[in-house]
Amino acid sequence: MSFELTPFIAEILADIQSIEDDAGIYQEVHFNARANAIDFIDFHVIDRINGLLSGGPNTALESAKKRVETAKNLLEKIDITLFKRLREQISSGAYPEGFFKDLVHKYLGDEASPAAGKAGYDNLDAFVNGLLSNQPLPEASIPRDPEMVFYQQTPARIIFELAERAASSENTFFDIGSGLGHVPILVNLLTGAKTRGIEYEPAYCDYAAASASQLNLANVAFINTTAQNGDYSEGSVFFMYTPFEGLMLQQMLEILKTESLKKPIRIFTYGPCSPQVARQGWLSCVNGPADDVYTLYEFRSLIS
Ligand SMILES: C[S@@+](CC[C@H](N)C(=O)[O-])C[C@H]1O[C@@H](n2cnc3c(N)ncnc32)[C@H](O)[C@@H]1O
Repeated sequence: MSFELTPFIAEILADIQSIEDDAGIYQEVHFNARANAIDFIDFHVIDRINGLLSGGPNTALESAKKRVETAKNLLEKIDITLFKRLREQISSGAYPEGFFKDLVHKYLGDEASPAAGKAGYDNLDAFVNGLLSNQPLPEASIPRDPEMVFYQQTPARIIFELAERAASSENTFFDIGSGLGHVPILVNLLTGAKTRGIEYEPAYCDYAAASASQLNLANVAFINTTAQNGDYSEGSVFFMYTPFEGLMLQQMLEILKTESLKKPIRIFTYGPCSPQVARQGWLSCVNGPADDVYTLYEFRSLIS
C-alpha cells in the first residue's frame, strides 16, 4: 500500500463500518434510510474506491470493495423480500381504501408527500420501481418516428400529485404514451379509477400489462397502438408526459378536441409538450402559463 493512500483507505473503512453498524437500515420498515445508505455506498464509497483503484491495483482497496458490496447486497435483499410480500398483498386484493397511500407513508415517511417545486427522481421512485415489478427491463424492439419521444418515466411524486388532482373512481384515466405502465398502475392503486395506457412500443406494453397482471389489477389495461389510432371514447382524464412532439402532438390534440365536444374532459401534461398544449385556443390552463417543464399542468376545454 502506498503511503498517500493510507488515510483515504482509513476513511473508506470507517464509512463501511458505519453502514455495517447502523442497525436501523436492516429493519424492513426503514426503506428510506436503506435507500440513502445504498446511494451512499454507490456514489460515495464504491465510486471513491474505483477512483483510487484507477491508479493501480491495491489489495486493501479491493477487499474494502468486496466488503461494501456484501453490505449493499444484504440491503438490496431486504428490499426484494419486502417488495415480494407487498406485491402478494396487493394481488390478494385484501386491502382497504387508502391502503396504498398509507403503505407508501409507512415506508417513506414524509418523503412520500408531494412537494411543490421538487424536481427529479428520489427514494419514492426507488420504492415504486422496486414494488411495481420484478421483471427485467425490456429493450425497445421497433424503430421510432423522429417526433416520438423515447421512454422516460414520470417522477413518482408527479404521479402522486396527478392522482391527487385528477382522478377519482368515477373517471376513466388515459396515459397517452404509457411506457412501462407506472402512471396507470399507480393512479389506479391510489384512486381506484379505471385506467388505460396507450403505448406504441410492444415490449413496453407487454411489460406494463405483465406488471398489472402480477398485481391482479382488473381495472388497468394497456393497449399497444400508436396514440393517434387509440379509442378514447370512454376517457375523461388524459395525461401526457411528452410522448411526441410537433405534428404528431397536434394531431393528438385534435383527437382530444373531438372528444371534448362529446363530454367534459381534463388534460394533464408534464415536460416539454406543455407550451404547445397551452397554445391551443380551445384549451385553458388552470394553473399557470404552462412554461415550466417540471410542473404538472391541467387544461380544461373552453368549447365543451
Ligand atoms: C416520455 S415517455 C413517458 C412514459 C410514461 N407516460 C411514464 O410517464 O412513465 C413517452 C412514451 O411515449 C411512447 N410513445 C411515443 N410515441 C408514441 C405514439 N405515437 N403512440 C403511443 N406511444 C408513443 C414512447 O414509446 C414512450 O414510452
